[in-house]
Amino acid sequence: MTAAFRPAARLAGLGTSVFAEINQLASRFGAVNLGQGAPSFDGPEFIKEAAIAAIRAGHNQYAPMPGLPELRTAIAEHQQRFYGLAVDPDSEITVYAGATEALFALFQALVGPGDEVVLFEPFYDSYSAGARMAGAEVRAVALEAPARHADGFQFDPAALDAAISPRTRFVLVNTPHNPSGKVFSRDELLTIAEICRRHDVLVVSDEVYEHLVFAGEHVPIATLPGMRERTITISSTGKTFSLTGWKIGYTCAPAPLTAALRGAHQFITFCQATPFQHAMAVALRAPDAYFEDYLAAYRRRRDLLCDGLAAVGFGVAAPAGTYFVLADIRPLGWTDDVSFCRMLPETIGVAAIPPSSFYLHPEKGRHLVRFAFCKEADVITEAIRRLHQLSG
Ligand SMILES: Cc1ncc(COP(=O)(O)O)c(C=O)c1O
Repeated sequence: MTAAFRPAARLAGLGTSVFAEINQLASRFGAVNLGQGAPSFDGPEFIKEAAIAAIRAGHNQYAPMPGLPELRTAIAEHQQRFYGLAVDPDSEITVYAGATEALFALFQALVGPGDEVVLFEPFYDSYSAGARMAGAEVRAVALEAPARHADGFQFDPAALDAAISPRTRFVLVNTPHNPSGKVFSRDELLTIAEICRRHDVLVVSDEVYEHLVFAGEHVPIATLPGMRERTITISSTGKTFSLTGWKIGYTCAPAPLTAALRGAHQFITFCQATPFQHAMAVALRAPDAYFEDYLAAYRRRRDLLCDGLAAVGFGVAAPAGTYFVLADIRPLGWTDDVSFCRMLPETIGVAAIPPSSFYLHPEKGRHLVRFAFCKEADVITEAIRRLHQLSG
């Protein structure tokens, strides 16, 4: 390959994500895929009908760069309805091609060479890639997994305090948390908030699983004293409405930060698909029953998967949030998540994700495997049936 074909230095070390590799193995061996966090079922009819109606009504040209006013108003109403947060749709809300673009835009907008961001590890892999592509450094604070079970991930406030330097621009909190399923408690968030205020750093709060909390409560950090003015909240309609392929995400942030985010967004995608924005304005105004039924269905899927994994012999505790569970493979005689997940599709016919790729220090996640339960009951049941070959 000549120099003309060489990728830019900012991609060095990013490689191909482990998700792509596992998905390829899953399709090659016809495995039941509990790796990827995409529902195996479709989103609700009323939202799909709203998108079709928007297309038929001729809403097919570029949307305004910050997002369709109607959608931004629906997002503001959602923040008020669920969290009592007053957010101005004109100056504080922006719509993107998924939370993924929101993350990319915020790294581009806020950090550069010489800057640092603090993440809790394990972390969703696009955080470190976004930091890297913007030229910033990542500092990680460990969410320590208890010895055997995958619940109760805890951080040490002193470690967070020590990770923040004069170069730190923001601390990124993800609650409910992918991949651990942890829901940060109000007390933990108050601790993080106090540390961030004291060091005068921003908080980025990734809340894409906000409606998937089975135990405890979802506390947006922006609702805590003194935090609204220093928090960028990211969310996505993809998970909540089981339409991940539509990629409608958004941020809520104080006006000066929103102006910076829009400065990046205007040159990344400029705007997201217009008919889907119309439909998500309808979705976000769904009655309470929608959100309650959604959570109840996920609770059943979570219990089905966790009970099944425990019966197979994994070390497992039901996660408090998200649609992921981290299972300990050591009771089954395995110690390396990557070799386990490479073996699984061909030998057992199931796909799962090795979480060491969510760590800056991969050895901390070697004994864990991430399973997704955004799948129909018969898919989960079939996966468990196959997984029994591990212990049999
Ligand atoms: C924690 C977290 N943030 C962001 C995203 C990306 O969301 P979107 O599909 O809206 O880009 C995901 C998707 O898996 C996620 O798990």
